[in-house]
Amino acid sequence: MSSLSINDTVAVIGAGTMGAGIAQVAAKYGHTVLLYDKMEGAAQAGLNRTAKGLDTLVARGKMTQADKESLVGRIQPTETLADLAPATLIIEAIVENLAVKQSVFSELEALCSDDTILATNTSSISVTAIGSALKRPENLVGMHFFNPAPIMKLVEVIQGLATSTAVAQQVYDLSVAWGKHAVMAKSTPGFIVNRVARPFYAEGLRVLEEGGTNEATIDAIIREAGQFRMGPFELMDLIGHDVNYAVTSSVFNAYYGDQRFLPSLIQKDLVEAGFHGRKSGRGFYDYSDHAEKPKPQTLGVQAAPTSITVEGELGCAEPLLARIEAAGIKVHRSTEYDHNGRICVGDLVIALTDGRMATERAASKQRRQFVLFDLALDYSRATRIALTKADQTSEESLMAAAGLFQALGMQVSVIDDVPGMVLMRTVAMLANEGADAVNQQVCSVKDVDIAMQSGVNYPQGPLAWADHIGLEYLHGVLAHLVNSYGEDRYRPSPLLRRKVFGAQTFHG
Ligand code: NAI
Repeated sequence: MSSLSINDTVAVIGAGTMGAGIAQVAAKYGHTVLLYDKMEGAAQAGLNRTAKGLDTLVARGKMTQADKESLVGRIQPTETLADLAPATLIIEAIVENLAVKQSVFSELEALCSDDTILATNTSSISVTAIGSALKRPENLVGMHFFNPAPIMKLVEVIQGLATSTAVAQQVYDLSVAWGKHAVMAKSTPGFIVNRVARPFYAEGLRVLEEGGTNEATIDAIIREAGQFRMGPFELMDLIGHDVNYAVTSSVFNAYYGDQRFLPSLIQKDLVEAGFHGRKSGRGFYDYSDHAEKPKPQTLGVQAAPTSITVEGELGCAEPLLARIEAAGIKVHRSTEYDHNGRICVGDLVIALTDGRMATERAASKQRRQFVLFDLALDYSRATRIALTKADQTSEESLMAAAGLFQALGMQVSVIDDVPGMVLMRTVAMLANEGADAVNQQVCSVKDVDIAMQSGVNYPQGPLAWADHIGLEYLHGVLAHLVNSYGEDRYRPSPLLRRKVFGAQTFHG
């Protein structure tokens, strides 16, 4: 099969949020684009919205008027489905309903040539199931864009059971030619992004449910220690709880109730109350006119120790030491300790969370003064850190640990003693889900990371992040979460175990 070129006509069905955006992407590349919507006037309205959006780019000097006009001129609103027959590739972005999609594609098959490529932008329906109603299911492929399509780089190319590999490859190559970051995935619930992202919300919700800390503090930890653009509660409020809860529930049900995807009762309550997030004026946060955004819990300034002793290696937290020295705090090193490293200030032990509660670690080490710190993406730059103390530990010890991190210019949020804290358990579960998607042959290691960085702007791909933390350490975090909760939800992926025992990394 030859590859698709600029001379091929592309058609888009559905001129709503996604369809109009996809038409713009194809027209920008240079295709003639036929745009159809069953609602009268909707295709022209979609084109008008696109033109208006491009006017802003022209006003900002990011596009010339001539380029804008030729792009808009390449998009042709059409009156009937039959008008789409000349297209080589037809992309569907209509209502998310299996029966409606099947009927539109069946109609198209009768109108188009035998080798017209049919693509669906569905985000949750099985490509295999849509294809089951078609005479030529090998021509049907998923082409999953992200909103807004002209800006978001990712396209997930989804292969249903009957999809021809050559067709999937053509759509993949075309997406790359359009300037997108394309990934290939099997048609499985949630594909890559909507599956691997579930723990981002689920772990935050779990910490909230257990009273670990409040929404604003979790959001701040995820942003300022994890360098994510938004925390889970801000993001769920933006997406809308009706939509986010429906996606979680659909992935949970599609995986026959796998506890890893268990929806949250807190979110169900919001949906039932009609608190859908920004769009309804209230979600986790209040968006009414005079409402003030709650501030994260941040500890007042505490005295810093003048010296510390580091026993062993701190692993991914090692960059803390340069920061500590730069703050004028003396660092003594002791290499005798052969476990995961720790910072000692007198009888106080400060260590990176390993998935156990501080209270459990203090008991097992028979050290009463035990404070844990959370993960950060980059300890040399993080502006906030979460701390927690064991129940046996005094407030004075906690304040001494806080003073140490504050001396490095970090804000300190003290949270309750929940296993795996906030960022560590979130990243461990994101990486575990990515590993399991690879283990189940849904996609490649490389594609997990591309998908999460390009589709949802993660600061690092979860599997590259896992390599950075150390796979043995990460596996230990999950094993400790299993122990703490006694739940199947935290079971490590067999692929992660295998990498640990083979002393390998995901990115080799
Ligand atoms: P939308 O509601 O903004 O637009 C859908 C358009 O399709 C409407 O203009 C409607 O009149 C038209 N339409 C409905 N049934 C039709 C039919 N039988 N024939 C022709 N036109 C028809 O919806 P949106 O958000 O653009 O979503 C479209 C598809 O893209 C859905 O499958 C959705 O799951 C998927 N998607 C949505 C994303 C989002 O963030 N909105 C992201 C990625 C995928």
